[in-house]
Amino acid sequence: MKRNLLNSLFIIALLAIGLGACNTKKEEAPKEPKVLTVYYSLWGNTTLLANMIHNTVGGDIFLIETATPYPTDNAHAAAQKQIDEGVLPELKGKVEDLASYDIIFIGTPNWFGSTSLPVKAFLKENDLTGKTVIPFATFGGSVDNALAGIVEACPNSTVLEGFSVSGDDAKNPEKNVEAQVKTWIETLYLTLKNNVQ
Ligand SMILES: Cc1cc2nc3c(=O)[nH]c(=O)nc-3n(C[C@H](O)[C@H](O)[C@H](O)COP(=O)(O)O)c2cc1C
Repeated sequence: MKRNLLNSLFIIALLAIGLGACNTKKEEAPKEPKVLTVYYSLWGNTTLLANMIHNTVGGDIFLIETATPYPTDNAHAAAQKQIDEGVLPELKGKVEDLASYDIIFIGTPNWFGSTSLPVKAFLKENDLTGKTVIPFATFGGSVDNALAGIVEACPNSTVLEGFSVSGDDAKNPEKNVEAQVKTWIETLYLTLKNNVQ
């Protein structure tokens, strides 16, 4: 299953970035795409969703961390202060060899109706030009512009349809969010395939 979905994603990436098989020499097998799931999570909900995606598509996974952690019980005040001051948090660590990835799932919690500040900082620091980007998010009440903020920050990437779910649903096994994730990824493939036929 993992391999099937990964191959599907590879085809998505080829179609989306317009390479197509005609650019590949006949005798050469197409290179398997490198997939990365990168995300920020303060309270663990987006981690749950990121792990579901990673379990479905394989590849590598990277947690964005801030140099100074937000207080988990009073993150709103700390984040609001940064917004008021117009600053983004300093990040700790870097994705190794980001340039080598073809497909990047980027996950964020909704913060104040938008993409969280650590993910904004990641997108400012890392140039995703030419990559296929797939956003995902968790939220408390509604997704608002959490996905749209990622799309806006990636003007030179091919951005595919994102997925969002409430943090409560991500934690609730009865909601079977993992099945929704698998359907979403299969739908991405089918939609693109139908678009080019
Ligand atoms: C600073 C901050 C701002 C938030 N703002 C919103 C919001 O505007 N709308 C919303 O639905 N949820 C908001 N939330 C709730 C989170 O989006 C939600 O709980 C999410 O699932 C948390 O993800 P995490 O556990 O990965 O950190 C906010 C949470 C924090 C910490």
